[in-house]
Amino acid sequence: GHAGLAYLGPPLPAGEPIAALCAGLRRGAHECEPDLAVPRSILPLGHTGYPGRPVLEICRQGRLLGVGPQAVIARGSGAALHFSLEDATQGLRIDSRWQARDSGVVVVEQAVTVDRVEALQLLRFASLVLPLPGWVTAVTHYAGRWSAEMHASRTVLAGAPGLGGASRGGRPGFGGGQWLVFDGAGTTEHTGPCLAVHLAWSGDHAWHVDTHQDGDAVLWIGAALEPGEVEVAAGARFEAPPAVLAFSTRGRAGLRHALHRHVSREVLPEVGRATPRRVHLNTWEACGFSLSMPRLERLAEDAAALGVERFVLDDGWFGRRRDDRSSLGDWQPSAEVFPQGLDPLIRHVQRLGMDFGLWVEPEMVSPDSELYRRHPDWCLALDGLPRATQRHQLVLDLARPEVAAYLFDALDGLLRRHAIAALKWDHNRELFPRAGRGLTQTLALYRLLDRLRAAHPAVEIESCASGGGRVDYSILARCTRFWASDNNDPIERLRINRSWLQFLPLRTCGHHVGPSPNPVTGRALPMDFRAKVALFGHMGVEADPGSMTPDERRTLAAHVALYRQWRDVLHEGELGELAVDDPGVCGWVAVAGPRALALVAQTAFARHFEVAPVRIPGLDPARLYRVTLPEPWPDPAARYLGDSALWRDGLVISGAALAHAGLALPLRHPCTAWLIALEAE
Ligand code: DGJ
Repeated sequence: GHAGLAYLGPPLPAGEPIAALCAGLRRGAHECEPDLAVPRSILPLGHTGYPGRPVLEICRQGRLLGVGPQAVIARGSGAALHFSLEDATQGLRIDSRWQARDSGVVVVEQAVTVDRVEALQLLRFASLVLPLPGWVTAVTHYAGRWSAEMHASRTVLAGAPGLGGASRGGRPGFGGGQWLVFDGAGTTEHTGPCLAVHLAWSGDHAWHVDTHQDGDAVLWIGAALEPGEVEVAAGARFEAPPAVLAFSTRGRAGLRHALHRHVSREVLPEVGRATPRRVHLNTWEACGFSLSMPRLERLAEDAAALGVERFVLDDGWFGRRRDDRSSLGDWQPSAEVFPQGLDPLIRHVQRLGMDFGLWVEPEMVSPDSELYRRHPDWCLALDGLPRATQRHQLVLDLARPEVAAYLFDALDGLLRRHAIAALKWDHNRELFPRAGRGLTQTLALYRLLDRLRAAHPAVEIESCASGGGRVDYSILARCTRFWASDNNDPIERLRINRSWLQFLPLRTCGHHVGPSPNPVTGRALPMDFRAKVALFGHMGVEADPGSMTPDERRTLAAHVALYRQWRDVLHEGELGELAVDDPGVCGWVAVAGPRALALVAQTAFARHFEVAPVRIPGLDPARLYRVTLPEPWPDPAARYLGDSALWRDGLVISGAALAHAGLALPLRHPCTAWLIALEAE
């Protein structure tokens, strides 16, 4: 009579008697609970006395309806299970499909089908309801703001009866609340069970962990629907966004590896998996809105001299856009900046050996634009109410066919007329007034992106929303990378990227070497440190090389070369976190077969002169590795290196020694970073 979750954990032996396993987990009744035991259902409904949030809530003509299944059908085997729950009285069916993928994750897809003559309104519908296993004692969740994305908090569930989060800006938001990690008290990077859940959805979401008074904890996660937003017509079906689950018994590393495999093999479009991630130079921090042909040509020459492979022209190239107050929607090159159009610049960039990328923000319109003057009714607005702007812009109603057609033609025209290898697709304001359009807006965005990608499959698209405001597996199914933050200060990025990298592989994580002092934090940091940290991602430059010292340019060029030499390891390898006993030191290692590259970064002045040796996990314990420190080396740390010839030529030790004894590197001064190259003998 119900679909319950009996077990979530490492594989059980073939032929495990599941009924006995369930019996062993069933508790006797107590004095204060429904007479008929309430099952730990993955499709819970309210009529049973289930105390948490039901999987769905519906109404017809304003009346809340009770749903109770007359039949639950389970089908499938091995990698795919399909449950159907039918309520003939209300004339609906809930389908829940659980699919184990080769990458090691489980994808859950749920849908409601109305099979009676009368339509119904969906008030809530979960993408996943997950009764949490008994070993789960805490959840790590995220919150953030512009330039400070993804602050992680770990909350112990006992004593936190109503825990949850939601986004309301028409996108997941800088806090990326649709990423969750559940673990037990003793879970570490390499040991203990943990469980990740992600809602693959680029619009608003809600999640709750309801801990019942009797101790049971259940996760509810799904798209946030507005009242009246979703009406399912008779004979129609509503599909909730997919939820992705990963499970590990080998700590956070196992979870990370499964999720990275899933994104790299099954989520990213072909163009994002198959080609090396080229080094970008983005014009934003170098030029802002002050664009001119001579300036851009010089910037391109300086970029090429650094070894950059893609020149991305950011905001300000179109219409009359000399600041952020105008022209969104007018996607023609500015006649003032580009009297001959974009081609002369693109040809210049190509002659220098780079390809060309272009910034767009298609979902938006400036009230001061030709588009708005022609079609003031194309934006989201409520009759009679003022049109409130954010960054002086309004949101286009993408669900209107004429709006979608205009945007497709504008973007398709740009891609047909010019040799554009990549688009940076920005989204710089929240969606309001929502007026029941959050869901349709997101679905219309997917349709627009899908149509454009089908017409131009080789074009790479970056997802940006003032930094990391819209990052999820559904947008990444249409993009090749995401802009992790407008904050390129490496100290901040070490924290921000650490959160993203739990769920997303290095190849997708856009990270650029910014100017110093950093325009967001004001912190002045050495080029060596900025470049080493940016190398662990999809590397780029977002600064004017013309305003760097010759020494800084040399250092940056050397790191661009290192990135190009090591990117196959960074982007194909498994990512592990280094074990360092000093809170001011952190780092990563990417291991790809016989080669590995590690980053050790120090952000605070060390308490002890001798920081404990850095241990490097994830290597083959039985193999010998040649260990070198790729140059350039950080100053002044390099002066304390001892036998520098040894680190240059390489010392040979085993993977076991590297994991358990480690390497004693000079880590005393804040803003010191080392790269460690490991090559099996
Ligand atoms: C916000 C983005 O995050 C920046 O990188 C830049 O593209 C600006 N928008 C341009 O307006």
